[in-house]
Amino acid sequence: MFVCICNALRDRELQAAAADPSVKGAACVFKRCDAKPKCGRCLPDVADMIAANRFNPADLATAAE
Ligand code: FES
Repeated sequence: MFVCICNALRDRELQAAAADPSVKGAACVFKRCDAKPKCGRCLPDVADMIAANRFNPADLATAAE
């Protein structure tokens, strides 16, 4: 499925780039895909992908204590 229409980037490409632990933000994800954000409509989805890769269930357990 295309997430970024402007750059014809699919969810798989963006998720793979977002999974890199060295990625610090959406700009890094686009750079890894050899693209630049244009309209910005996909940025919330890219941010969610980055956040999903940073989610650690152990953090929830610690926070609940
Ligand atoms: S949809 Fe990604 S920059 Fe426009």
